[in-house]
Amino acid sequence: MVKIIYKEADGIEHVLDVPEGMSLMQAAVDNGVPSIIGECGGQMACGTCLVYVDAVWRTQTGEPGDMEEATLELHADNPNAGKRLSCQIKATPELDGLVVHLPVSQY
Ligand code: FES
Repeated sequence: MVKIIYKEADGIEHVLDVPEGMSLMQAAVDNGVPSIIGECGGQMACGTCLVYVDAVWRTQTGEPGDMEEATLELHADNPNAGKRLSCQIKATPELDGLVVHLPVSQY
């Protein structure tokens, strides 16, 4: 299991033990974490699984690929750094303790 910490905009934290290989989106949806919707089921089509990777973790999570970047354009008016689609981040041992911040809204 990989510990992932989801922080809502108002500071509420959700700490999940995520099975290795599961996406952060799927874990959040399965556990009722607010603000993560995942309408397209992880197909990089909806952009409703946006998170902001905490600054100290961005090297470990890496940069979005071209297709992910295109979907992130749906949030182009949002200036926050570290934007990723949580459906494209899989839990790995290297990410144990990862902190992601949640947007106020996915729309
Ligand atoms: S779940 Fe739709 S883009 Fe991530």
